[in-house]
Amino acid sequence: MDDHLDGYYYTGQTPFRKPNESAFHFHARRLIAIQTLGRLEYQVEEAETKFNRALGPIELTFVGLGAVIGTGVFVLMGTAASTNAGPSVTLSFMLGGFVSGIAALSYAEMASMIPIAGSAYTYAYASIGELAAWIIGWDLILEYMIGAATVSVGWSAYVVAFLQDAFNVSIPKTWTKAPINWQSGAFHLTGAHFNAPAFVISLAVTTVIYFGIHMTARINNVFVVFKVLVLIIVIFSMIPFVKTEHYHPYFPPEFGGVKGMLEGASTVFFAYIGFDSVSTTAQEARDPQVNLPIGIMATIVIATIIYVGISVVTVGVADYHDLNGDSPMVDAVRLTGMKWLVLLTELGALAATTSVILVLLIAQPRVLYAMANDGLVPRLFANVHPVYKTPSTSTLISGVICAFCGGLLPIQVLSEISSVGTIFAYFVVNIGVIILRYTRKTVPRRFKVPGGPFLLPGLGAASSLLLLQGAKQDAIIRLLVWMALGLLVYVFYGRRHSEINNPRLDEQSMRVIHENFSTNSLNYDGYLDDDLRQQYARQMARQMDYDQPRRRRSDYTVDGRPSSEHGIRDLGHSYEMSGLPPNGSSPFDDGLSDGAVDSGHGVGAPTTPSEGHREAADDVIDVPEHLSGHAEVKDQSSSNTRSGTQPLQASPQTYPEMAHVSPRIS
Ligand code: ALA
Repeated sequence: MDDHLDGYYYTGQTPFRKPNESAFHFHARRLIAIQTLGRLEYQVEEAETKFNRALGPIELTFVGLGAVIGTGVFVLMGTAASTNAGPSVTLSFMLGGFVSGIAALSYAEMASMIPIAGSAYTYAYASIGELAAWIIGWDLILEYMIGAATVSVGWSAYVVAFLQDAFNVSIPKTWTKAPINWQSGAFHLTGAHFNAPAFVISLAVTTVIYFGIHMTARINNVFVVFKVLVLIIVIFSMIPFVKTEHYHPYFPPEFGGVKGMLEGASTVFFAYIGFDSVSTTAQEARDPQVNLPIGIMATIVIATIIYVGISVVTVGVADYHDLNGDSPMVDAVRLTGMKWLVLLTELGALAATTSVILVLLIAQPRVLYAMANDGLVPRLFANVHPVYKTPSTSTLISGVICAFCGGLLPIQVLSEISSVGTIFAYFVVNIGVIILRYTRKTVPRRFKVPGGPFLLPGLGAASSLLLLQGAKQDAIIRLLVWMALGLLVYVFYGRRHSEINNPRLDEQSMRVIHENFSTNSLNYDGYLDDDLRQQYARQMARQMDYDQPRRRRSDYTVDGRPSSEHGIRDLGHSYEMSGLPPNGSSPFDDGLSDGAVDSGHGVGAPTTPSEGHREAADDVIDVPEHLSGHAEVKDQSSSNTRSGTQPLQASPQTYPEMAHVSPRIS
C-alpha cells in the first residue's frame, strides 16, 4: 500500500488553491507539479490502442543506429579535424562517446521506468516538474527537428558529390547552398537561392513517415545495414593507405593542443545525437522496459567503435588540413584512388543521412504528441492518423519546418544549435535520474545506472556542463533566446492548458468538491467561499468545454454555486439537457482562472468516465477537517474502510469512490 502511494500515485499536489495559500505560492507550486506515474501508465494503456507495437530489441538498435550514424561522421569529423583537433579527433570521438554513453545509461534507466513516448520531456515531467518538462520539450525541438535539418544539409552535400562523381552532373551552387549565413555575430545573405536538395529530402522523408512505422522501420533497417557495411569496408580498405606521419603532431599546437581536442569533442558530439530517439518510440516497442535500454546502449557502443575506426583511418590517409570540404570523408577516400570506394562511400553517406533524418523526424512528432496529451501544446499535435496510426499532424508540421530550416540555414549554425540543445537535455536527464532515485524509490526499474545514483549521473551532468561550456558563445546565446521564447509560450499557453494543473473532473467528482467546499454559504477553515466557488466553477466550465468542444468561452456564464432550485446534481442534469449552465456571474475574470476554459482542450480528446477518474486520481483534494467527522470513505481498491476525525483526503485510492461519500454537515 505504501509502495503504491509512494511509488505511483501520491504526490501531495492539488490543482486547487489551498486554504490561506498565497497566489504566488499557488502559481509557483504549479510550476513544479509532476506527472504522476499513474497518469503516465494510463497514457501507455491508451496508446496501446493507437500505436502498433512493432519494434523489438534489434529493431530498436536499428532505430538508434539509424538516428546516430550520419552527418556527424561523414561531414563534421572533417570539420573538427581541420579546425579543432587534427589527428586527435579520434580522442574527441571517444570523449563525445563517453559523455553520450553516460547520458545513455541515464536514458536507459528512465526508459525502463517510464516507457512512454516523449523521451527526456516525459522523464523531466515525472521527476522535476512541469516547467522543467516544458523547457526540455521545447529544447528537444532543437535536437530532433533542427538536428534533422542539419543532416539534410549533409545529405545535400553528398548528393551533389555523388551526382558529380557518378554521372558528371552538377547542380548550380546557388541551389545547393544556404541563402543565409552567420558571420561576425550577424546573419547575412550569401547570394545563394536555396538549398533545394536539403529541402526535398526532408519533405520526402516526412511523406514516408506519415504512412506508418512499419514501412519506416523497414526502410530504416535497410539503410542501417548498408551504412554500417560501407563504413566497415571503408575502414579496412583505407588501412593500407595510412601514413603514420599524418598523426604528427597528434595535438596540433595551432589549435591549442589538448584544448583543440576538447573543442573537437563538442563538434563531433553531434555524431552521437539521436540515440535517445529510441526512447521516443517507447509506445511502439515490445517489452519496452527491457528493449529500450538494450537499444540505447547497443547504439552507443556500436557507433563509438565505428567512429573511432573511421577517424583513425581518415586522419591517417589525409592530411587533416585537407578535411575541410563539404564531404570530407569522400575527399579522404579519393586519395586512395579507388573510384568504386568513392562512389560506395557517397552512397553510404546518402543512406546514412537519410536514415538519420528519418528517425529524428519520427522522434520529433512523438515528443509533440506527448506534450499535446499533457495539454502543453495544442491538441491537434496529438492527432493520430486512424489508418496509418502515426501522429500525423505533428509529423507534417515538424517535417515542413525542418525542410525550411535545412533549405535556408548553413550546417554550422544548425549543428551548433542542435548540439547545445541536446547537451542541455542530457544534463537534465542525468539530474532526473538522481532525483527519481530519491523521490520514486519503489517504482520498479528493469535497468539501473550502475554505481549508485550519484557517480555516473553526476559525472554525466558535470561533463554535459563542460561540453556546454566548450560550445561557442553564439550557440549558447541562441539557446537562451530559444528558451526565452519557449518560456513565453509556456506562460501564455502551456501553463493555462496543462492537464496536470487544470484537470478535468467528471460530474460526480465535482459534486464531491462542491459538497465539501462550498455548500450553504459555509466558510471552512480559511477557504474563502469565493475561491472555492470560483475553483468549482472553473472545473464545471472545463467540463462544459470538454463535452461541448465547439462552444466558446464567451458562451458561458457560470455561477459556481447552484441556485436554490438547482441542487448540484440537478445542475449537472440541466447541463445535459440544455447544454448551458444556469445563468449567473462569470467566474472567469478571477485571478485564479488561468486556463479555466480553453476551447482547444476538449477537441479530439477521449471522454471516458474512467479518464476523469484516473486523472482526478492523481490529485489529492484536502477536505476541511470538520467535514470529515461523519464521512466514511470506502476504499474499494484496498477494502479498507476509513473513518475518523483526521482530515479526509481523497487520495487516488479513495478518490474515485468519493462519489459515494456524502459528508453530512451537522
Ligand atoms: N548523430 C546524427 C548525425 O551525425 C544526428 O547525423
